[in-house]
Amino acid sequence: MLELGAVHEPIATLLAGKLEEVAVIFERQLASDLSAVNELCTHIESYRGKMLRPTLVLLSGLAAAGEPCDGAVLTNKHLTVAAVAEMIHMATLVHDDVLDEAEMRRRGATVNILWGNEAAVMLGDYLISNAFHLCSTIGDPSINLLLGQVTNTLCEGELVQLRHRDNYGLDEATYLQIIRRKTATLIGVCCRLGGALANAGEVQTQALERFGLALGTAFQLQDDLLDLTGDAEVVGKSLGRDLDKGKLTLPVIHHLASVDSVERGRALRLIEQRDAAGLQRRLMESGAVDRASEAAAELIAEAKRELPRLPAGPARDMMRHIADAVIDRSY
Ligand code: FPP
Ligand code: MG
Repeated sequence: MLELGAVHEPIATLLAGKLEEVAVIFERQLASDLSAVNELCTHIESYRGKMLRPTLVLLSGLAAAGEPCDGAVLTNKHLTVAAVAEMIHMATLVHDDVLDEAEMRRRGATVNILWGNEAAVMLGDYLISNAFHLCSTIGDPSINLLLGQVTNTLCEGELVQLRHRDNYGLDEATYLQIIRRKTATLIGVCCRLGGALANAGEVQTQALERFGLALGTAFQLQDDLLDLTGDAEVVGKSLGRDLDKGKLTLPVIHHLASVDSVERGRALRLIEQRDAAGLQRRLMESGAVDRASEAAAELIAEAKRELPRLPAGPARDMMRHIADAVIDRSY
């Protein structure tokens, strides 16, 4: 889970307890009578790290309800939606590691490395199928519809990203559209659903969704920065995958758009040679890394501007804290 800090007690304790209940729902849903399936699912459980999406479902419910922040507003529907969101997220990670040929996630070997691509594709399918099976138990087709739309959007983001592989002319707007679709939409809907299930009105659910969208976009921007400049031991996953897979991310886009033709030629050669260290040096020197960090910070400021639409209280304060933590992280 994200570092929530001692200042946020007792809501941090309340959330930690609820997240444990979410984990039980998650594990119960995936449990099979077949040990071959259970072995893979147990591995997936070790992937659970920040629990950002379930946290935001719960926190959005708490924030929409305001004081007293005692958790009474959180129903079983919140817990189930939180588990569904995490399962969708896990499915996408397992498939993403196949596409990226990644070897490490959450400090351990990826499913594709341990059991091969075929098993990873099938496990991702098993997770996404179970996510919608679990979602259907809520008995509210509007939630299935919304989350189905999210997974459509997420796949579209990945498809557009694939289409632009090795496109050295990729512009900022297209990059932002890709990361909004592949990452931010799910986070936005987590916030929206958390609020809606706490009977928030339209103004608040829209504010929550915008909060999640801006935060989710910043999250992926930071993820892309870490892929370029992070330390694999600290981040806990394979880095340099974007360059290896010909995915241009914001620092590279900024650099190529702002330098003269000689430097552009040099940078393009580094990209073609997949020279991560050389490229990183140039992007640091030109200020392109700093500019991308500033863009992430601006998105977090945008997210936080939505918060005054929610009642004041510890849950709203914690949402502000989480927004800051999304870009202030090295893992
Ligand atoms: C992370 O990108 C990738 C995503 C957020 C989305 C991946 C989605 C798919 C592969 C589509 C699968 C769809 C379903 C419905 C199962 P990244 O590689 O930048 O993140 P990373 O650094 O964590 O690997
Ligand atoms: Mg990846």
